[in-house]
Amino acid sequence: MSGANQSSVSQFLLLGLSRHPQQQQLLFVLFLSMYLATVLGNLLILLAISTDTRLHTPMYFFLSNLSFVDVCFSSTTVPKMLANHVLGTQAISFSGCLTQMYFVFLFVDMDNFLLAVMAYDRFVAVCHPLHYTTKMTRQLCVLMVAGSWVVGNLNVLLHTLLMARLSFCGDNAIPHFFCDVTPLLKLSCSDTHLNEVMILTEGALVMIAPFVCILVSYVFIAGAVLRVPSVGGRWKAFSTCSSHLAVVSLFYGTIIAVYFNPSSSHSAERDTAATVLYTVVTPLLNPFIYSLRNRDLKGALGRVVGQKPFPA
Ligand SMILES: *[C@@H]1O[C@H](CO)[C@@H](O)[C@H](O)[C@H]1NC(C)=O
Repeated sequence: MSGANQSSVSQFLLLGLSRHPQQQQLLFVLFLSMYLATVLGNLLILLAISTDTRLHTPMYFFLSNLSFVDVCFSSTTVPKMLANHVLGTQAISFSGCLTQMYFVFLFVDMDNFLLAVMAYDRFVAVCHPLHYTTKMTRQLCVLMVAGSWVVGNLNVLLHTLLMARLSFCGDNAIPHFFCDVTPLLKLSCSDTHLNEVMILTEGALVMIAPFVCILVSYVFIAGAVLRVPSVGGRWKAFSTCSSHLAVVSLFYGTIIAVYFNPSSSHSAERDTAATVLYTVVTPLLNPFIYSLRNRDLKGALGRVVGQKPFPA
């Protein structure tokens, strides 16, 4: 930066979702409520799973990891947006912006990897039910979760370092509510070719590989379910996967809508709406999808909520 013949940007402006004060008030209330519901819903799931020993199985361990990641995911974007609204500012420092980008994509990667791990878990449960306990050992579960954190961190570190070497000189207004990659690349005045190539190759691979694992798992699951002779048995085998399948569809549906939008009427507003869906609404809905469809979890939640604070 020193010796550069261009003035560099020391902070960015997050323009948020709307310029109309009236709409901003409404969005503030909406995002605050969604954020509180996300934190509360996911914390309840964490509490229910940790206190009920019947839920100490790989599936619920992964689900509690997913809830933890979802709380962190919402906490990287929404509180900053709400705080800026309250303080009447739009500023985010350069390092703050990169930090936010790092964590947003770390948690997107983690959501992705955990959904793939959960699909593998369902595959073993449905296709090899007799070997489930010998295959899904504690070591394997810990290894898969720890491996996800390592790969996720390495991946976002690479993209964050590539972003940190760019210079930003003129315009510093991000027409978004958090520091997303695409708007930042547009603002940069350096050559962003390497960044784009890495996003489209390594970045895409990290997103697509878990998705392919999920698809392959479900092909096998569907095959096994269709071989079950009775309709009741078929439904029972499938019902253990239905919550996971609902979450997977929600997560990838919104991501595909944002990044693989095929239409030419690809507008900034529509992209932003889809980004809101996968960064704010998905973490909110995950706990509800799981708890509404799952009798064991519902029972455990009921016990957590119904507990008296002081034993009589
Ligand atoms: C995440 O999963 C691992 C491995 O199954 C488990 O040991 C750990 O308790 C889980 N973490 C949380 C926060 O639930």
